[in-house]
Amino acid sequence: MNKTIIVTGGAGFIGANFVLAWVKQGLGTVVNLDKLTYAGNLENLTSLEHNPQHIFVHGDIGDQALVAKLLAEHRPCAVVNFAAESHVDRSIHGPEDFIQTNVVGTFHLLEAVRAYWSHLSTEHQQDFRFLHISTDEVYGSLGKDDAAFTENTAYAPNSPYSASKAASDHLVRAYHHTYGLPTLTTNCSNNYGPYHFPEKLIPLVIHNALVGKPLPIYGNGQQVRDWLYVEDHCAAIRRVLEAGKVGEVYNVGGWNEQANIDVVRTLCRMLDAKSPRADGQSYADQITFVQDRLGHDQRYAIDATKIAKELGWKPVETFESGIEKTVNWYLAHQDWVKNITSGEYRNWVQTHYSERGEELA
Ligand code: NAD
Ligand code: DAU
Repeated sequence: MNKTIIVTGGAGFIGANFVLAWVKQGLGTVVNLDKLTYAGNLENLTSLEHNPQHIFVHGDIGDQALVAKLLAEHRPCAVVNFAAESHVDRSIHGPEDFIQTNVVGTFHLLEAVRAYWSHLSTEHQQDFRFLHISTDEVYGSLGKDDAAFTENTAYAPNSPYSASKAASDHLVRAYHHTYGLPTLTTNCSNNYGPYHFPEKLIPLVIHNALVGKPLPIYGNGQQVRDWLYVEDHCAAIRRVLEAGKVGEVYNVGGWNEQANIDVVRTLCRMLDAKSPRADGQSYADQITFVQDRLGHDQRYAIDATKIAKELGWKPVETFESGIEKTVNWYLAHQDWVKNITSGEYRNWVQTHYSERGEELA
């Protein structure tokens, strides 16, 4: 066995950041299995086009035969599973893809990995890891004064997305408990940074601001998320892969709770300074309160004490430094955004926001 790893969903937001950093740091070869759904974008990986350390494979984690073939061919020391349907609003419009990829797909992936792992030598079995990337949303919603989510918080998923992720977490747990598969699970809070698909709050607001569209705030904008810069999440994943205790769960978060309206106002202030509107007015004038998300979770917050104490990980970026890097990246990569805001993206935005009384396409 060598230092090759298989990453799934490595053409998406977090997966691409992870793959880019892994190769840049010379940590070994990455076989990147991605279905290239609307959220997968090979443009995220153009800098690796001719790099032999990155092998891209177009395919589905639910295709057990394909995964078995990749495992046999590349003999990885780890599989890191990012592949998922990830957008809560899409899960409300159409949950089926979420069940198919996040639950059934993860099951098939686990089956293929279990078959591969069970035939390894004892030494290689001990070294192998299956790392499942999950979310804080599986823990449900917090009240204003509730303590942050720990690894012992009971699961209480509220959306089809979080329910499908919770199901996949349970499968991973069961494969460790029942078959002894050396699994690790990370449950992370909201990420932001480069290559974030502009259907999600931060990149959507930056994009809409610059093209003069409304900045849609669901409900009263007082919902709270715990924001973490994506490179810090990737560093946490590397650390868990390196030193995490088999079978364990690690919560990853930014210690950075913010109400949505405050995040949006910060973005407006930054854009006012860096790329002022032609009419001299503030981008904040574009803020528009729209109909709330169905079943909208009020607050997420991660208690990341365990990973700090046991593995020595903590975020490097503050929200101020991370959001500065993010806004600069989007301003410098307007072509990347333009290439994404394609037909399918426009259809989604049109359908989703017209229900909220906004024409954003
Ligand atoms: P994303 O939607 O940007 O990317 C998902 C990637 O998975 C895409 O490249 C897509 O093509 C691929 N994919 C989807 N279905 C597939 C399938 N059946 N087979 C192979 N590839 C498939 O998602 P993201 O925001 O990068 O999230 C990555 C992972 O991290 C997800 O599991 C998500 O639940 C989790 N997570 C995300 C956040 C966040 O803030 N974005 C926070 C915590 C956890
Ligand atoms: O907490 C981790 C999760 O964070 C991940 O598991 C998900 O994959 C990821 O998409 C993200 O989920 P959220 O629903 O928190 O992220 P989103 O960017 O969609 O929304 C952030 C907050 O902003 C949320 O409270 C809803 C609100 N929002 C979102 C959009 C798209 C708005 O007010 N207006 C919008 O147009």
